[in-house]
Amino acid sequence: MSGSKLPIDQSDPLSANPQRSDVDHAAETKAGKGITRRGFLKGAGVAAAGTALLEGAQVFSREAVAATRGEHNGVKEYGPGPIAVTLHVNGKEQTVHIEPRTTLADALRVDMALTGTKVVCDRGACSACTVLLDNMPINSCMTLAMDAVGHRVTTIEGLAKNGEMHPMQAAFVKHDALQCGFCTPGMVMTCSALLGKNPKPTEEDVRYAIAGNLCRCGTYPKIFAAAQEVAGASTPESTRNA
Ligand code: FES
Ligand code: FES
Repeated sequence: MSGSKLPIDQSDPLSANPQRSDVDHAAETKAGKGITRRGFLKGAGVAAAGTALLEGAQVFSREAVAATRGEHNGVKEYGPGPIAVTLHVNGKEQTVHIEPRTTLADALRVDMALTGTKVVCDRGACSACTVLLDNMPINSCMTLAMDAVGHRVTTIEGLAKNGEMHPMQAAFVKHDALQCGFCTPGMVMTCSALLGKNPKPTEEDVRYAIAGNLCRCGTYPKIFAAAQEVAGASTPESTRNA
């Protein structure tokens, strides 16, 4: 579900309580909450002068270390020029030379030619750009490529095995669960992640999982049908004659 996707911790009451201190944030990070919205914004803010390494991020490669600009208050700075970043994508390690401000979506599409991941809103509103980070659906347009280092990234190109479509891809084709197709890779990724966690989702579970994935063409009923077929359920009542 987009609303709870990493790396943005929607539970971070940043907007509700702007007075919260960085000490609070540091404590949250230490407590293992991962990448928070505050952390993302902090990184983005520093990007103007050379992107800072967000808390918890890891060493990228030998070249990247060599390109480190310096360290201020314990925060390493990279860039602003390209650095070597090694990502684990669809089972393989690939090194790309990108500016530290590059989003994961751009690194995948532009630098790795994995254009199956679609960028529609480019601002975290539609989830068309969904990929899996350690099997968790995330919005790749809102994730810095650097923050994906050390994690397994799976894109729509990585779902098929040995020339065979993933069952979810096949079900989308069978149920004609697309029109223009711009939302489709993101929908497939979110649905496949749901089935990885819950092999027998109800229609309600599917609706909840894709609540953040917007389809402007309105193919939702057929998407529910595709997901439920893969789950082994009969076609839901609500999607008959859709
Ligand atoms: S393109 Fe990433 S959320 Fe819309
Ligand atoms: S099929 Fe067109 S946006 Fe979903």
